[in-house]
Amino acid sequence: MAKVLIINGPNLNLLGTREPEVYGAATLADIEALVRERAQLRNSEASFFHSNHEGEIVDALQGAAGVYDAVVINPGALTHYSYALRDAVASIAIPVVEVHLSNIAAREEFRATSVIAPACAGQISGFGPDSYVLGLEAALVVLGRTQ
Ligand code: DQA
Repeated sequence: MAKVLIINGPNLNLLGTREPEVYGAATLADIEALVRERAQLRNSEASFFHSNHEGEIVDALQGAAGVYDAVVINPGALTHYSYALRDAVASIAIPVVEVHLSNIAAREEFRATSVIAPACAGQISGFGPDSYVLGLEAALVVLGRTQ
């Protein structure tokens, strides 16, 4: 059974009330339930971690290797400038898929660049809560665990 860790970065704990016109009405708990449901269908297991702190996310990435088979991460605004997160992703031997609720290519210019994505297996952006479900599916594809 594939074990996938879903990591959420700064401000994603506020989903549901945070800029709903951009990020929608679903809370982080709603998204977790959605991903758990798909994980069960795929005979895999999803675990969740959220932090508003860059260093804690670095720790979570370092700790994921050896415990989980893959990581799905929404780094929030850290996406656009955190070389520490990028290096952490590049440092671990398990695949990491980057996800975003909004289409970061279609928003402010600073959001179009992800410094994390080059170290990831790939990026999914713009599908709201389903970005996470697609992120899980992508992780399973990379692991060769689809059937
Ligand atoms: C986000 C996009 C980022 O630019 C932003 O800082 C977020 C959320 C998304 O999921 O669309 O916090 O990662």
